[in-house]
Amino acid sequence: MDELKVFTGNAHPALAKAVAKYLKIPLGECEVFTFSNENIFVRILENVRQRDTFVIQPFCSPINNNLVELLIMLDALKRASAGRITAVVPYYGYGRTDKKDQPRVPITARLVADLLTVAGANRLLTVDLHAAQIQGFFNIPVDELTALKLFTRYFKEKKLKDLVVVATDIGITKRARDLAASLDASLAIMEKRRVGNIDKAETMNVIGEVEGKVALTVDDEIDTGGSLISVASALEKRGVKEIYACCTHPIFSGSAVSRLASSPIKEVVVTDTVPLNGEKKLDKITVLPIAPLLGEAIHRIHTGLSIGAMFE
Ligand code: R5P
Repeated sequence: MDELKVFTGNAHPALAKAVAKYLKIPLGECEVFTFSNENIFVRILENVRQRDTFVIQPFCSPINNNLVELLIMLDALKRASAGRITAVVPYYGYGRTDKKDQPRVPITARLVADLLTVAGANRLLTVDLHAAQIQGFFNIPVDELTALKLFTRYFKEKKLKDLVVVATDIGITKRARDLAASLDASLAIMEKRRVGNIDKAETMNVIGEVEGKVALTVDDEIDTGGSLISVASALEKRGVKEIYACCTHPIFSGSAVSRLASSPIKEVVVTDTVPLNGEKKLDKITVLPIAPLLGEAIHRIHTGLSIGAMFE
C-alpha cells in the first residue's frame, strides 16, 4: 500500500482537487455518471490493486444521489482489489437523525454507517459530526477532525474584546467550551427547542452573561438558518454589542442566505466541507478552506502518523 490514490465523485470536486494539490498528487481517474434511467455508473480508470485509496464525497445536495454515488464508488474499489478504502465524508449528512427520540422513527445516521461499511469502506474520515457518538455507529476506525482550530486562529487575529462564545444549543456545549477556552472568552449556552419535525427552532433561555459583550455563536451546521436567527434575536434582546457566528458546514438550504443577509449578525465564518456556489455567497460570509486539514489527515493515515497530534 505504498501508493496513495485520491478519488472524487460529483459532490465536491473542487475540494478533492484542493486536497490532491495539498498532497502533491494527481486526482485518481474515474468516471461517475448517471444513465438516462437514473442508474449511477462508476468505472475506476486506473489500477488500484493493493493501493491505499481515499474517496472524497460530502453528503451535500443532492444528498441521496451523492450518498449512492459514494456507495457505488466504494463497491467498485472493493471489487478492483484496493488494499484499503477510506470514505472521506467531510459533511456527514443524516447525522441529525441519530437517536430514537420519538416512537417509530429510524436512526438513519446508523443506517448510513452500515451502508458505507457493507459497500467496502475500511475507514471513515470526517469533520465535526453532529454528535461525536456517531463514531460508535461504525465498527471500522473513524477519524473525526474538527474545524475549531481554524475558527480559533481566525478569531484570535480579530482581537475581539469582551468576547463570549455562545453554544447555540446544549448539544454543542463541549465544542463551545473548547473554543471559549482557546479564545480566552467566557461561555454562554442557549436552550433551544425544535417545534415538531419541521425545520423550526425556538430559543428559550440563555444560560450565562451576555449583556454588553461581543457574542460568537458556534454550531456544527447552518441549515435553514432558523436556529441561528432565533439565537441572534435572543442575544440582541439581552443587550449584546455585536454578533459573530461560526459553523463548520454551511448547508444554507431554502432562504438561509437571505435570512443571514438581513440578520443582525456581523459576520458568519464557515468552512468549505460542502460547495458554496454563487448564490450562497455574501460579503458577510467568510469561508476558511478545509482542504489542508483533510490533506494532512490523509497523509497521516497513509503514513501511520498520529492524527491527534494535529490538534494538540
Ligand atoms: C442541530 O441541532 C444542529 O446543531 C444545528 O443547530 C441545526 O442543524 C441548524 O439547523 P437550522 O439552520 O435549520 O436551524
